[in-house]
Amino acid sequence: MKHLLKLEGMPSAAMEEILASAKVIKAKRGGGEAKPLDGQTWALIFTKSSTRTRVSFEVGIRELGGSVMFLNANDMQLGRGEPIKDTARVLGRMVHGAVIRTFAQADVEEFAEYSGIPTINALTDDEHPCQILTDIFTFQERRGPIRGKVVTYVGDGGCNVPVSWVHAAAALDFELRIAAPSEFQPSTEILAKAGGNISCTEDIRAAVKGADMVYTDVWVSMGMEAEAEARLAKLAGYQINGELMRLAKPDTLVMHCLPAYRGKEIDAETFEAHADTIFTQAENRLHTQKAILAWLAG
Ligand code: CP
Ligand code: NVA
Repeated sequence: MKHLLKLEGMPSAAMEEILASAKVIKAKRGGGEAKPLDGQTWALIFTKSSTRTRVSFEVGIRELGGSVMFLNANDMQLGRGEPIKDTARVLGRMVHGAVIRTFAQADVEEFAEYSGIPTINALTDDEHPCQILTDIFTFQERRGPIRGKVVTYVGDGGCNVPVSWVHAAAALDFELRIAAPSEFQPSTEILAKAGGNISCTEDIRAAVKGADMVYTDVWVSMGMEAEAEARLAKLAGYQINGELMRLAKPDTLVMHCLPAYRGKEIDAETFEAHADTIFTQAENRLHTQKAILAWLAG
């Protein structure tokens, strides 16, 4: 039984297979596509908000021939205390796969263990694997193989998105620089586990020099709202803006997983200058996740 629970420990061959298949799936969209989910019903179980992930999975599952059921976790008995392992054993007897967005990584892993159906992590506090596979697909579409390239992540370097970048960098052999205040950098345990060519710095200007891509995410992730004021103050110097990008190469890609907060992690002008890349990145969630679904079904 295959799952996509995290990029940590995921073999590079599996990532490369998904990335190659996403390219074919994108090219074939609407023109005699394969239907590997024919006759299947997949459940989306979300505890946190979502626009891109929900829509791209709902559309993608349908395009692959499946049916989809969206479940707000708070409307389920799960929200009233029914254990995850019981919920998993019920759903596992009725649906063919699950896509879960929640807080604890352990909850998605427990669901996968007890349900006996392919399970996808659609974002937890620890990782956002579908996002980073999409980002790499988007980079490669525009700049060729990511191997040996330099990706600079600017902002909250300790949240799910940069942590998935850490594991991808180690597996796919590109350089990752994380420019963040020391308290917003990935833990030494995570960095040690990943290995690879990864550096963390507070020197945002040095980090963007020579980068092939500069990337950011929100400063206040879902679930961190109580810390919002302190985070905005501490991360204020870690914005992607025109002044910073003048230090980078002229053809450096700017990417953002969205939603974007202009004037915080990125200024409005830089965001709009790179909007075509950023919204292609959002569109590519659909193609890459269809490749993930096909990989799990195969
Ligand atoms: N980037 C991303 O996962 O967006 P949503 O939160 O809208 O799904
Ligand atoms: N780090 C962000 C990603 C949103 C897609 C969050 O967890 O809210």
